[in-house]
Amino acid sequence: MNNFDKTYVTDAKFMLHGGDYNPDQWLDRPDILNDDIRLMQLAHTNAFSVGIFAWSTLEPKEGVYNFEWLDQIIDNIYKIGGRVILATPSGARPAWMSQKYPEVLRVNEYRQKQLHGGRHNHCFTSPVYREKTQKMNRMLAERYGKHPALLMWHVSNEYGGECHCDLCQEDFRNWLKEKYNNDLKALNDAWWGPFWSHTISDWSQIESPSPIGENAVHGLTLDWKRFVTDQTISFFENEIVPLREITPNIPVTTNFMADTFDLIPFQSLDYSKFAKHVDVISWDAYPAWHNDWESTADLAMKVGFIDDLYRSLKQQPFLLLESTPSLVNWHSVNKAKRPGMHLLSSLQMVAHGSDSVMYFQWRKSRGSSEKFHGAVVDHDNSPNNRVFKEVAKVGETLEKLSDVVGTNRPADVAILYDWESNWALNDAQGYGLDTKRYPQTLQEHYRTFWENDIPVDVITKEHDFSSYKLLIVPMLYLINEETIARLKEYVANGGKLVMTYISGIVNEHDLTYLGGWHPDLQEVFGINPVETDTYYPKDENRVHYNGKTYTLKDYATIIDVKGATVEGSYDQDFYAGTPAVTSHSFGKGKAYYIGGRLEHSFHEEFYSGLMEELSIKPVVSVKHGKGVSVQVRQDHEKNYIFVMNFTERQQMIFFDQPVRDVITKEELKGQVELGIYEVKIVDETR
Ligand code: GAL
Repeated sequence: MNNFDKTYVTDAKFMLHGGDYNPDQWLDRPDILNDDIRLMQLAHTNAFSVGIFAWSTLEPKEGVYNFEWLDQIIDNIYKIGGRVILATPSGARPAWMSQKYPEVLRVNEYRQKQLHGGRHNHCFTSPVYREKTQKMNRMLAERYGKHPALLMWHVSNEYGGECHCDLCQEDFRNWLKEKYNNDLKALNDAWWGPFWSHTISDWSQIESPSPIGENAVHGLTLDWKRFVTDQTISFFENEIVPLREITPNIPVTTNFMADTFDLIPFQSLDYSKFAKHVDVISWDAYPAWHNDWESTADLAMKVGFIDDLYRSLKQQPFLLLESTPSLVNWHSVNKAKRPGMHLLSSLQMVAHGSDSVMYFQWRKSRGSSEKFHGAVVDHDNSPNNRVFKEVAKVGETLEKLSDVVGTNRPADVAILYDWESNWALNDAQGYGLDTKRYPQTLQEHYRTFWENDIPVDVITKEHDFSSYKLLIVPMLYLINEETIARLKEYVANGGKLVMTYISGIVNEHDLTYLGGWHPDLQEVFGINPVETDTYYPKDENRVHYNGKTYTLKDYATIIDVKGATVEGSYDQDFYAGTPAVTSHSFGKGKAYYIGGRLEHSFHEEFYSGLMEELSIKPVVSVKHGKGVSVQVRQDHEKNYIFVMNFTERQQMIFFDQPVRDVITKEELKGQVELGIYEVKIVDETR
């Protein structure tokens, strides 16, 4: 992509710095609310997400409203030059609502109705909940829509989960009727009905998947997951009706998530669909920095991957809407960020395209489950502790980065991520139970580019492929005809395409392709992958490639060559000597197939060859050691270069060209020292 135009995702032309602010927990402490305003200025903050879980304060009894406190809060923030990201409060309900209208309560997959409590647990279908939400949102939009502090809508909070109540079952059946044009035979065909006598003879027999019921019909499971995404979006769309009507110029976002323990993209909702309904992508990032199972650089690479995926969903800057300034309260061990890590991890998000650094939360709660979650203001209410000072430093730094706001990250390389394919692959009773690891596999491919300072877009299948010199499609188990046709066209027109083992196995209904690999894929790749072998954890094979030998684990594909050039071959087993890596010219382009799960050094060798051939280079040349990441944002005039030390040792870096330190304004050239967790932001005229 070569888009150097700036895109401002809100009307703020400065980096947003602030976070979730829950004054509704402190309304009987005006002294604390006053302190907040004082401390916000000391922390160099300027934007606050307000009212996220405030429904029981906004409407303490049905039809009894209380907005005066919020008027005051918004005015006070505005008086200090701050902006407000106003939340709709549907992430949690007041107790009166669950009591009076039990239909708003969720039913789990065991068909157990949940009690009132917690949050993020309402039925997305419930007409009552939809009506109540819309009414509340209308009142918020009417009251605050013209307030000059209003910057953006924060719709609900971290949508997720699913409900299996009767209302949802009915909507699911209607969704299916529409999808299959009221044709039950089409549904039975798609779901491979006769298997285990699962043919449906009436729509009313259809139930959502359940551990105590239907759980072996993959077409059903896949459709259910699609429905859950669509139903969540439909709930969101219902929420924003009054916001679009009353405040058409105020952008709308909802905070996306990641699955945190392994730090992979959020699995349960197809964000590629959701992205089309929001104006701004935002997400909540909680990496377990300093954990005891991976290096800081490994974790940083995974964060970069998710950033590049979420940024690419709309090809524009995104917002970091939540992060912790210190620690969380829900990892297995809640370790504090070491000195320097807060600035580094915050600026990493900016380096990958965020125009904000926001926290959960502004002030630590006094009670309940989040009282030990890190916050800008601790229970000591002091601006003098380490965490507060590190936050203020982030604020001061962001104040110097206004020119970076709105800039993009043009990339020559794309990796394709697909939520549906991942769902289907995980559901597949086949391959290795613990070794599919689709998102992690993509991160492994991404790693090579991250380590070599090459910007990558992590795109989804609807994306235009044509601008990329290199498109990497690992483990795309599920592919529909349209994607196959688009990949073919991409290569025919000159694109270089890399595909791996376990790709192109099933269609959009999770039905396998028959008669060998899809003929178009065979034509493009010049091969027919005929068998996939799955390894036990201790099994290994080797692949000879380019005069060297690389270790292979987990998966090996046995390949029939139909015109392709053999680039690498297996060393052992009954397929010793047969092709493991192939290439094939097709049209003006070339298609490469990697048959097995190969170690990182193979990717380095393989991709460095392609990078050289395609002249894919870092935007700027900075020499550095391992664990230092260089990421660039660009506009028509400048490159903004973030050099980040994700290691626990000092590093020497070397700038080939003179650059200017954006923070100190000094000119830097040649060798420069980078301390532990240090980050340098430099710019150069393009
Ligand atoms: C997020 C959530 C916040 C807060 C935070 C704690 O997932 O949106 O409300 O609970 O986690 O880390």
